[in-house]
Amino acid sequence: MDNFTFWNPTRLIFGKGQIEQLETEVPKYGKKVLLVYGGGSIKRNGLYDKISSHLEKAGAFVYELSGVEPNPRLSTVKKGVEICKREGIDFLLAAGGGSVIDCTKLIAAGAKYDGDPWDIVTKKAMAADALPFGTVLTLAATGSEMNAGSVITNWETNEKYGWGSPVVFPAFSILDPEHTYSVPREQTIYGIVDMMSHVFEHYFHPETNTELQDRMCESLLLTVIETAPKLLDDLHSYEHRSTILYCGTMALNGMLSMGFRGDWATHNIEHAVSAVYDIPHGGGLAILFPNWMKHNLKVNPERFAQLAVRVFGVDATGKSAEEVGLEGISKLREFWDSIGAPSKLSDYNIDNSKLELMADKAMANGEFGTFKKMQYEDVLEIYKMSL
Ligand code: NZQ
Ligand code: ZN
Repeated sequence: MDNFTFWNPTRLIFGKGQIEQLETEVPKYGKKVLLVYGGGSIKRNGLYDKISSHLEKAGAFVYELSGVEPNPRLSTVKKGVEICKREGIDFLLAAGGGSVIDCTKLIAAGAKYDGDPWDIVTKKAMAADALPFGTVLTLAATGSEMNAGSVITNWETNEKYGWGSPVVFPAFSILDPEHTYSVPREQTIYGIVDMMSHVFEHYFHPETNTELQDRMCESLLLTVIETAPKLLDDLHSYEHRSTILYCGTMALNGMLSMGFRGDWATHNIEHAVSAVYDIPHGGGLAILFPNWMKHNLKVNPERFAQLAVRVFGVDATGKSAEEVGLEGISKLREFWDSIGAPSKLSDYNIDNSKLELMADKAMANGEFGTFKKMQYEDVLEIYKMSL
């Protein structure tokens, strides 16, 4: 285990009816509020009206930025920064999934920066400060509601990169499982794949002696695997929506990854696919992760075997670590197939014509990954395995 400091300042407000806490939380940060949301799901499911009524009771003057895209775009961030600067916004409220929250994070930092917000994403500039913001989460997936990361797409250059800064932890996040009832089945599946992938990115690290961290990761995976099929049978189950919502937050709020640095190669490889083809993040991960695993099985077969036995119930008797590990990877594939996740790039009509372009984009900042450093050839191979 490596040295670490853990700090997470986000106030997590979880459960039925917690939306009313907007009335006590928002006034702490000022009067002028920019409400940021996506393509309209919050209008269709009634959340917009609820938020508006609580903001009114909180005495807020509300400005709006709507139309944040899934895979949020720099152009939308710029619109938000412009509103913040022009109107002297005090506080941002993101109502949506990871895309709306990530967009809000860059608006918050961009509002306190004089140059192009893309500088912050590409690390030409550090986010030194940010406007405070809160979130009302509507989709269990990214963990963005309780972390300081954000992923933004520059559609003009077909680049999609993650960035992060301690100045963009949400001040608070309101998580009511009922707000996720209307998430369509397909999007629910992507969220499940994404949160499991976050745990895998943690699990495959080069440190030793991470016994508790391993067990925590394994328990989260077991919980998701047990709950996901039940939720997909009953999308309005408060019980199962709550479990999955809580799992999504815990998978990427820093609790599972103390004392080591995770790998994150598959996320990088997936972001390059979304940057070129604009596919859903969770769908891309469902295709790529088992292939990253197969490609890197030999790096540490014992680690794959541990996952296979403890999470996927593989019987290790008389088998090598590599055989057990491979069986675990097959079980993961079977599980994701069983819930209806995509398994091939061709499921999104992606053929072999732009594999090199995607590999170039994935390599834009040089080799990456901590469990195994990925080079251009590795990335290309994983794309080919995924066709
Ligand atoms: O835009 P609206 O109309 O709100 O519809 C959204 C969108 O079409 C819809 N949706 C959300 N909540 C809903 C709902 N529809 C009905 N009812 C609801 N309650 O779902 C669609 C997808 O939303 P999006 O926010 O894009 O999904 P997700 O939360 O999976 O976010 C994906 C983005 O997050 C990034 C991804 O790369 C991608 O850009 N990530 C961010 C991370 C982070 N900040 O820590 C880590 C992740 O690994 C990930 O990379
Ligand atoms: Zn992810």
